[in-house]
Amino acid sequence: MNLKNSQWITTARDLGDVCPVFRKRFIAEKEILSAALEITALGVYEAELNGRRVGDFVLAPGWTSYDHRLQVQTYDVTELLRKENELRVTLGRGWFRSPMPGFVDSEDKQHRYDQPCGLIARLEVHFADGSESVLSSDESWEFAESPVRFSEIYDGERYDAAFAPKDWEAARLLNWTKEILIPQEGEEIRETERVAARAVLHTPAGETVIDFGQEVTGYVEFAVTAREGDEVRFTHGEMLDAEGNFYNANYRSARAEVLFRCREGNQIWHPRLTFFGFRYIKLLSWPGEVKVEDFTAVVVHSDMKRTGWLESGDAMLNQLFSNIVWGQRGNFLDVPTDCPQRDERLGWTGDAQVFVRTASYLYDVERFFRKWLRDLAADQRESGEVGEVIPDMLPTYPGSAAWGDAAVICPWTIYQTYGDRSVLDEQFESMKKWVDYISGEGWEKHFHFGDWLGLDAPSGSYKGSTRDGFIAAAFRLHAIELLGKAGRLLGREVHAYQDSYMAFIERFRKDYPDYRTQTEHVLAIHFGLAEDPQKTADALADLVRDDGKQLRTGFVGTPYLLHALSDYGHADLAWDLLLRKTYPGWLYSVTKGATTIWEHWDGAKEDGSFWSTDMNSFNHYAYGAVADWIFEKAAGIRHEENAPGFAALVYEPHPDPRIGFLKAELETRHGTIRASWRYEDTGIRYELETPVPALVRLGGEDRYVMSGSYTFWSIHSIPEKEHTIGFSERSS
Ligand code: BGC
Repeated sequence: MNLKNSQWITTARDLGDVCPVFRKRFIAEKEILSAALEITALGVYEAELNGRRVGDFVLAPGWTSYDHRLQVQTYDVTELLRKENELRVTLGRGWFRSPMPGFVDSEDKQHRYDQPCGLIARLEVHFADGSESVLSSDESWEFAESPVRFSEIYDGERYDAAFAPKDWEAARLLNWTKEILIPQEGEEIRETERVAARAVLHTPAGETVIDFGQEVTGYVEFAVTAREGDEVRFTHGEMLDAEGNFYNANYRSARAEVLFRCREGNQIWHPRLTFFGFRYIKLLSWPGEVKVEDFTAVVVHSDMKRTGWLESGDAMLNQLFSNIVWGQRGNFLDVPTDCPQRDERLGWTGDAQVFVRTASYLYDVERFFRKWLRDLAADQRESGEVGEVIPDMLPTYPGSAAWGDAAVICPWTIYQTYGDRSVLDEQFESMKKWVDYISGEGWEKHFHFGDWLGLDAPSGSYKGSTRDGFIAAAFRLHAIELLGKAGRLLGREVHAYQDSYMAFIERFRKDYPDYRTQTEHVLAIHFGLAEDPQKTADALADLVRDDGKQLRTGFVGTPYLLHALSDYGHADLAWDLLLRKTYPGWLYSVTKGATTIWEHWDGAKEDGSFWSTDMNSFNHYAYGAVADWIFEKAAGIRHEENAPGFAALVYEPHPDPRIGFLKAELETRHGTIRASWRYEDTGIRYELETPVPALVRLGGEDRYVMSGSYTFWSIHSIPEKEHTIGFSERSS
């Protein structure tokens, strides 16, 4: 990165809503060997050299804690250069200049909206004769209005295809720090898939709606034949209402609208500087006949490598797996967000903490999280407090237990899945600051989100009945434990934390001698706080049964609920919860045609009415966190406790006849693990392919195997009584 001699530039006058385009023309007199463009912006940019797009990073430079960190991209542009050249860069408001968060009014937000756009760049060209030439952004660059008449994260984009930039003026230097510039750290955001429209619907309300059959995050590309000045206008939605009409009241203040003014003739277009979360679009204006083949949803997210797959003998469960994957794809757009559609789309720390383990199995998210965790550390407050969202767009809002704990849980989980302890080394100070902060007096009485969306909430509240202080005290113990483990691994001094753990656990047991809710039981079991975990798990199982085999847990308890049950002999009940097709259950939304995970179990109710307009996202990944239980406990693959990164495996499946078979595949840093079980006439057949030594726990017996492929059988000797009599194994 070498932007020392480049200057920040901006427009010489305010263009209002219109997005500026900057240009630089230059002549390359000699034969070109190589050329590289370094560039970043205040806002989001799209660069073109001689009319061809530079790179394939969508919404570059991505989203970081801009006050501290702004990523610079470097592109090899050798192939794009000619003798006479023109570089053009269009700037949208992006996250930087958008009025985020949409749902609050604050000075801070207005200030963000009023900030200037900015561009900084450097083009270095190497010639065949050994010489080089450097072009740095300065006031010799020019700007004009671009055809993008408006672009913003929540509200959408307006484009005038008949408009050509003219009246170029000299750019103005912008006084902005370069201290924040860092090389690209995260995964680039890219177009990763194209989903053809499935149907054109004509709704009872007389609307024309395009259905893509899958909720995605990205934008719609369309082809249209038109007269100059004709308009294409549409808005986005996730659901149809009970009557089959278009619905997007749940986007709240986010307009999510596209307006395209056509030029003469055939044209294909999609927005370039914003994104939407949607399954449907409603056409508000369209010239001519509406044909399904003219619409494609372009899927956009951080370009992570897929590493985990699940498949079962149950079609609904398979749909749930697909919904979990799409939930991740829809919300991993440089920052792990709560949802991609309404006026939030923020890096809610609680949601990220809940989902990180599942995320780390389905995709390689090491780079993605390491970048976000650096933003977390950069935005961590003086006191050690971690905000509700990262980047911290709510700087005056208090942190909360189970939200700010992302500071400790996320680095620990990334280390666990991938085995590289440098993430702990890098985050250690931030982890420690958080733990010190929550170890101060008064944390239990501080503001907390509680067991957010717990079903045992008193009427009218989003908070489940689990005591705030209980959650705060339990997560504090968990965070201290993880910090201690990290510290010992790194050889840091953590004795004081061992002492404080002892003091806090004593206090916890004194303050909370009884567990009152499902979530309180779950936390006491899963965080190892209960004096008698077996008894506590049995009590939890009774509670779940007394509740009609229904979960009552919210954001805090749900991710660990099935673990707490199956770890203590109640796998059958865990399966009951997982396979439940009525509210509240993971498969209920599947019966309603969901293609992503919903924020509420009953986002859409049996009668087709909606939970509320106020807070009802249909692409909220949090409850998709159940996939970590499916990999670890249902399929039975987890890394041995002292072998992070899957350097050694524990294989301990919990099969259930209701789904016939389950297959899991996990690409780890040590190779690919494949595990499956299948119910056959004579018993259950288990297959394991492991690239590392494994401890196999089947039929109440422990045995060690080396890397290889194995088949184990559990044979039903008496057909009507499922009874394990032994195992035969084959290795190859
Ligand atoms: C977000 C959540 C988040 C919560 C905090 C909501 O508006 O969408 O997912 O964790 O607020 O309570």
